[in-house]
Amino acid sequence: MTNTQQQIKELEKKAHRELVEIQDPSALEAWRVLYIGRSGKLPEMLRNVKNLPDEEKRIVGKEGNALRRDLEEAYEEKRHAVSKDQEVGLPRVALPAGGAKWGHLHPLTLSMNRIIEIFSAMGFIIADGPEVEEGKYNFDALNIPLDHPARGEGDTFMIDPKSIGGEKDIVLRTQTSPMQIRSVQSMHLTPPFKLIAPGRVFRREKADATHESTFYQFEGLGISETISIADFKGIVAEFFTLFFQKEVTVRLRPSYFPFVEPGFEVDMSCVFCKEGCRICKHTGWIEVMGAGMVHPNVLKNMNIDPEKYQGFAFGGAIDRLTMIRHGVTDIRMFWSGDIRFLRQFS
Ligand code: PHE
Repeated sequence: MTNTQQQIKELEKKAHRELVEIQDPSALEAWRVLYIGRSGKLPEMLRNVKNLPDEEKRIVGKEGNALRRDLEEAYEEKRHAVSKDQEVGLPRVALPAGGAKWGHLHPLTLSMNRIIEIFSAMGFIIADGPEVEEGKYNFDALNIPLDHPARGEGDTFMIDPKSIGGEKDIVLRTQTSPMQIRSVQSMHLTPPFKLIAPGRVFRREKADATHESTFYQFEGLGISETISIADFKGIVAEFFTLFFQKEVTVRLRPSYFPFVEPGFEVDMSCVFCKEGCRICKHTGWIEVMGAGMVHPNVLKNMNIDPEKYQGFAFGGAIDRLTMIRHGVTDIRMFWSGDIRFLRQFS
């Protein structure tokens, strides 16, 4: 090996060794000037090749040029790496990647899935329908007259018909009850049948710890020739027992909804105490849903003969059941997107 060849080898080693250590653009620029810049070590060495004897000139020229390409490539690669590190502010040492965290479903989705699972096991079919609903289904077909207070703009988000190029009375559904008539029509159901329809509903109200303008309900409907309030009571007691994983009983209190007759509020026995606590307001009972026997007018709107068939309907709030089950004290947490809250449901 000639003297010059040896010098080339040494230069190669030194240049690479130094390049590996470089971590910022200014050090890299200094390296470039020192080794491959116009008056750097390698170009200078190559300039001297012409003074060598012919035989050596060929070999050294070839090796020198190969080294120049090699160092230029190494420089480009390093330039890329250094500028990327600078861009994202990466630490300059290679750290092992942190363990990735698994995501999970939202607590309301988990509750909804649980509700679907329990009712499916009891032979209910699942129905799904639109959140933007015709006033006809949300109110009229449910026996809710035009002058009913719930129909006012104060309680309902109305959609301007012109904005959707139509004449129709369109609202954001205020309850899942429109799904009673809608599902029977769209699924061409004939009695006997049992269905639930979980979904999102909207009410124009100010949010506080127990009210949200957007929340979730699940509607239930069961129709046959003989189905009774006793059947309903047994079914919902079983549902709450499975949902809360605690034996519960239910009681019915008379109430009024235009689409049922008789109508009632459903209370379940408190799942937290025997003799009264804060959650049940010291009554031993927690109000959990509205229900009743389907009004004959509503059956007619379903094209079902009220002389021959009867049925129950019920509607509960998924947010409320989730709050009771997990001790959530503010409904607004569900929409907060607060990861510390959500992580507790994984
Ligand atoms: N839709 C009623 C509500 O939102 C609940 C309900 C459903 C009551 C079915 C009776 C029957 O309050």
